[in-house]
Formats: sequence, C-alpha cells, structure tokens
Amino acid sequence: MIRTAFVAAVLGVGVFGIGLTAVVAQSDPTTERRNTMKGVGAATRDGAAIAKGEVPFDAAKAQAVFKVYADASKKMPGLFPDSAKTGGDTTASPKIWEDQAGFKAAFAKFETDAAAGAAVADVGGFRTAFGNVTKNCGTCHETYRIKK
Ligand code: HEC
Repeated sequence: MIRTAFVAAVLGVGVFGIGLTAVVAQSDPTTERRNTMKGVGAATRDGAAIAKGEVPFDAAKAQAVFKVYADASKKMPGLFPDSAKTGGDTTASPKIWEDQAGFKAAFAKFETDAAAGAAVADVGGFRTAFGNVTKNCGTCHETYRIKK
C-alpha cells in the first residue's frame, strides 16, 4: 500500500515536472537558451570523455555530440528578443543586441565546425573535429557573455 502510494506520488511529480518545463520553455526565451546551452555543456562532457579515451569511440555517440551543437546553433540566435535582455539570471551580454550580425555569424561558424565532425570514423578524427568545434565556446563567451 505505502509503496504503491509512493510510486504514484513520484510518477505524478514526474509528469507535472515535464508539463511545467514545456510551458516555461515556450514562454521564456531566457530559460530556453540557458537550457539549450546546458545541453551543449553536457554534450561537451560526453565528447571530452570520448576524446580522452574514458569512453570508447562509437560513431553514433560521436555524432550525437555534434548534433547537439548543430541543433543549438540553429535554435540559439532566435532566443534573444529585446524583451529578454535582462532577468532570469542571464549571463547574456548587451553586445548580443548591439552586434546581432556578429553574434549570428559566431553561431554559423559553430554550426559549420560541428558539421565537419559528422563524418568522423575513429577517435583520432574525433579529437581533431571536437578540438576545433570547442574552440568556439570560449571565443563566443568572451565576447557575448558577461562574467558573474
Ligand atoms: C556563438 C555563441 C556561443 C557559442 C559558440 C557557445 N555558447 Fe555557450 N553561451 C552563449 C551565451 C550567449 C550564453 C548565455 C545565455 C544566457 O545566460 O542567457 C551561454 C551560456 C552557456 C552556459 C551556461 C548555461 C547556464 O545558464 O547555466 C554553458 C554551460 C555554455 N554556454 C556552454 C557552452 C559550451 C560547452 C560551448 C561549446 C561547445 C558553448 N557554450 C558555445 C553563447 C555561446
């Protein structure tokens, strides 16, 4: 009895949590862009484990990392409306709105470098492509993020 109630409670919270996330993501570009970048961060941890040989090279796993980057590059530039310059613990720099073209170009380059990784066939190729694409992180953050 107690166990059943516990499971039901956990499932209930789970479903509610998913619903809430979907609503927030739709209505709040700051949360959505921060979550997108958190996904990029998680993919980078996965990629680093492959590059270091902690996780054996696997073409599907390698491609999954580059796909997260490519998807983020497509989505991110649209998540910076004038209404979302501040608030929501954003670290977005005002520079994004002052230099929209440069910001979009930085994501276009990130996407191109991610696409170069799509065809890697071994860990050596992965290291090269992963090394190149992850140079974009610091370059973009230095210009378009404020330090907190
Ligand atoms: C072309 C620009 C650009 C590139 C490339 C980029 N980022 Fe970001 N990133 C941003 C911006 C802008 C923010 C701030 C978003 C906000 O707070 O509104 C951010 C935020 C983040 C955050 C903090 C998310 C949070 O709020 O908790 C992480 C983690 C992150 N990026 C990881 C990465 C990694 C890892 C890479 C490279 C694989 C990368 N980013 C590439 C622009 C970029």
